[in-house]
Amino acid sequence: MTNTSKAFTPITIGPIKLRNRFIKAATNEGRCKNGLISKGLAKFHESMAEGGAAMSTVAYCATSKDGQTFVDQAHMSADTVPDFKVLTDGVHKHGAAASAQITHAGAFTFLPKDFSTAKPISAMGGFNKFGVMTGRYGKKKMDRGDMDNIAAEFVSAAKFAKEAGFDAVEIHMGHGYLLAQFITPLYNRRKDDYGGSIQNRMKFPTEVLSKVLDAVGKDLAVIVKYSQTDGVPKGNQIKEGIEIAKILEATGAHMAQLSNGLNVESISTMFGNPLPKNVISKPSNPIIRAAMALEKLKPEDTREFHELYSMETARQIRAAVDMPLCYLGGVQSMENINSIMDEGFDTLALGRALIFDPNLIKNLETGQQTRTGCNACNQCVMLMYTPGGTACVEPEGTRGISSELNIVRASS
Ligand SMILES: Cc1cc2nc3c(=O)[nH]c(=O)nc-3n(C[C@H](O)[C@H](O)[C@H](O)COP(=O)(O)O)c2cc1C
Repeated sequence: MTNTSKAFTPITIGPIKLRNRFIKAATNEGRCKNGLISKGLAKFHESMAEGGAAMSTVAYCATSKDGQTFVDQAHMSADTVPDFKVLTDGVHKHGAAASAQITHAGAFTFLPKDFSTAKPISAMGGFNKFGVMTGRYGKKKMDRGDMDNIAAEFVSAAKFAKEAGFDAVEIHMGHGYLLAQFITPLYNRRKDDYGGSIQNRMKFPTEVLSKVLDAVGKDLAVIVKYSQTDGVPKGNQIKEGIEIAKILEATGAHMAQLSNGLNVESISTMFGNPLPKNVISKPSNPIIRAAMALEKLKPEDTREFHELYSMETARQIRAAVDMPLCYLGGVQSMENINSIMDEGFDTLALGRALIFDPNLIKNLETGQQTRTGCNACNQCVMLMYTPGGTACVEPEGTRGISSELNIVRASS
């Protein structure tokens, strides 16, 4: 039996055609060393392509070393193009497309003081709460010159992505990274043209989008991932989330991927439930351990996971714009997928369900499965930035394909 759902039909996004509507969402896969990607990372994405996804998103390709959150993270440069080419070749071999998530951390970075500039950049200057562990206590308010430099970095990252064979770039405007630091009123209290209204707060991110579209938009799909809401009372609400979509549409983005929440302030808005209290895997990364400890100090978050947890907000955005939209958040079953199609979304992205099993899409198509076995325990999140990389803790999950503990350059 072959599944006849619309989700398995092709779609055109900007200049590219996808074989179906399923996108592997960015999930900080790790498997990088000193900014270089490994054979393990290439294999991870090849498995997603082999398993049926139309496009696999390589998480957090920093626009520069300074844009990394962690030292080892991949970054786009002439040096990393040959490694990324191995990855995109592996994905193409199975008929899928590859997308590079291009990101700058801004102040949300844990780079050591001696590795980078004294102060990370952001929409605002002053005290940097994220720098407490690394001694980078201050942040620099970006001036016009900084904005020009960062926009140029996004453009060159997109050009490197094209050179490396990527089919799409995903500009990260969500979760609290640099561009989100402009968009959210939590981090942007500027009094100039780049602060105040949501239109002003979107000005710099929109400039970046326009320049990337001009540079690569004829050849690559230019996708924007952003947070529909910040998940906290003083942050963006759905009213702003709708305005953001309208601005992205007017600027010409080929598709918006609708995420939710912020990394630190509202992780359960992003995942639909909190991080686990009992961590099975003993994260070896000190920052993740510290994040866990801080999480325990917060008032207890009792939000319970439910399927399609972002649908209520996503539906409002669907009603407000005509541009292609990618639904994201809590996709667990064929029933969910059909309702995403019925609600008028063009594509859908899956994170945890494909960490659990990269073959899910193939199995849904053949009817071998109707739902994922992932129970959204979030233990995979605890494995980010560990040597083996992000993986499922279940024996049948991605751990098998992940364990390139000895990081070898993809192209070596
Ligand atoms: C382990 C893990 C790492 C993640 N890393 C990233 C990331 O690097 N960039 C990003 O935009 N989202 C990241 N996310 C969020 C996912 O893209 C997605 O928004 C979230 O998991 C909800 O989708 P799901 O319900 O299909 O898992 C991560 C999620 C997980 C589980």
